[in-house]
Amino acid sequence: MGTINTKTKINKIGRAKGCIAVPGDKSISHRAVMLGAIADGTTHISGFLNGADCTATINCFRDMGIEIECSGDSVTVHGKGMHGLKAPDKMLYTANSGTTTRLLCGLLCGQPFDVSITGDASICRRPMGRVTKPLSQMGADIENEYCPLHIHGSALHGIEYDMPVASAQVKTALILAGLYADGETLIHEKEKSRDHTELMLSAMGADIHTDGLDIRVKKTERLNAQNVKVPGDISSAAFFMVLGSILPDSEITILNTGMNPTRTGIIDVLLAMGADIEITNERVSAGEKTADMIVRSSSLKGTEIGGDIIPRLIDELPVIAVAAVFAEGTTVIRDAAELKVKETNRIRAVVDEFKKCGIDIEETDDGMIIHGGKSIHGADFAAYGDHRMAMSLTILAQLAEGDSTLDDVGCVDVSYPTFFDDFYGLKY
Ligand code: S3P
Repeated sequence: MGTINTKTKINKIGRAKGCIAVPGDKSISHRAVMLGAIADGTTHISGFLNGADCTATINCFRDMGIEIECSGDSVTVHGKGMHGLKAPDKMLYTANSGTTTRLLCGLLCGQPFDVSITGDASICRRPMGRVTKPLSQMGADIENEYCPLHIHGSALHGIEYDMPVASAQVKTALILAGLYADGETLIHEKEKSRDHTELMLSAMGADIHTDGLDIRVKKTERLNAQNVKVPGDISSAAFFMVLGSILPDSEITILNTGMNPTRTGIIDVLLAMGADIEITNERVSAGEKTADMIVRSSSLKGTEIGGDIIPRLIDELPVIAVAAVFAEGTTVIRDAAELKVKETNRIRAVVDEFKKCGIDIEETDDGMIIHGGKSIHGADFAAYGDHRMAMSLTILAQLAEGDSTLDDVGCVDVSYPTFFDDFYGLKY
């Protein structure tokens, strides 16, 4: 995590014009290191996200004997095969990263060694029972439902599991355990969550098959290393999609953004709100769709967001809430209770911070209701150490009357260390 600066002023850029390429996708970057470590051969990753979360993943794998070289956004992982990880001689530290913590539970519970995992204060508050419980049905032996977790390596067997929540982290933990489990692991998803693990594992030759909401995986003795070109993270592009839509006289081109259909809910929602988003240069790179986007100023209107679109935009909801503030009419976000167990409780955090600037917003059990289109004033904002809150509040402050400050600009390092450079670079 970056340094905490008390009350950094959020400068207003007025209008935005220019071209940016947001850093690499966080989910894909984590997976490329993890799967590269247990593959046979060398994985060259380009476009890797050099953020604090993915660095935590690299450090954990180095602690388990994997040689990893980093140079800018290029990372080389020297895989040691399915049985090549070694017991770390200290507790693994996953910092602020839920993805690292949960995926490691799945990958490590079937190894022939014991390992303990912990992270920062936010990670220690986040529920791990959602992975440890189904993993224990597979034979895993994991102490605690909150970090620190103590994993005693065990023999695993496949299970059939109906997922109670839509979560790619839970799904991936079970898939990774399934690679080491006797028999077949069959997972039924509630709603389709991001499928980067399934795509990367298939490309590496794992015995994995997806049919709608069902995923079947069998014990796998060998993964073949693949080079991975990581596309820009649509969750990072989201801040600029909203910025370009709400600021007057603005046009932002965002190059090479991941367009995996399990991640593009924000495009559907912003288009439904009346945004002007042009998608160009669509292509497929290493199994993942990518494209460029041109976002222009527009007049937004309120909308309803709920149901199976939620997992396709879960991380973008705080900045979608910002769009709703500047949209005419009411926006209702429902079925999003998962926001309560992110880096912070993002329903409570959005509602409390938005209220500070006079926004008409109500908290509900599973989301929020925003009455938009009214003028707002600046405020002293708290980010709760949450990278996506910090970036969303920076966008919100742009159209507020008067000054705003943010208590922690450093936390953007988790997913977008160069956010403020890209942001202020768009002023013209
Ligand atoms: C992620 C999955 C999502 C998302 C997180 C990254 C992943 O969490 O919020 O930022 O890489 O698998 P859930 O799977 O818990 O919804």
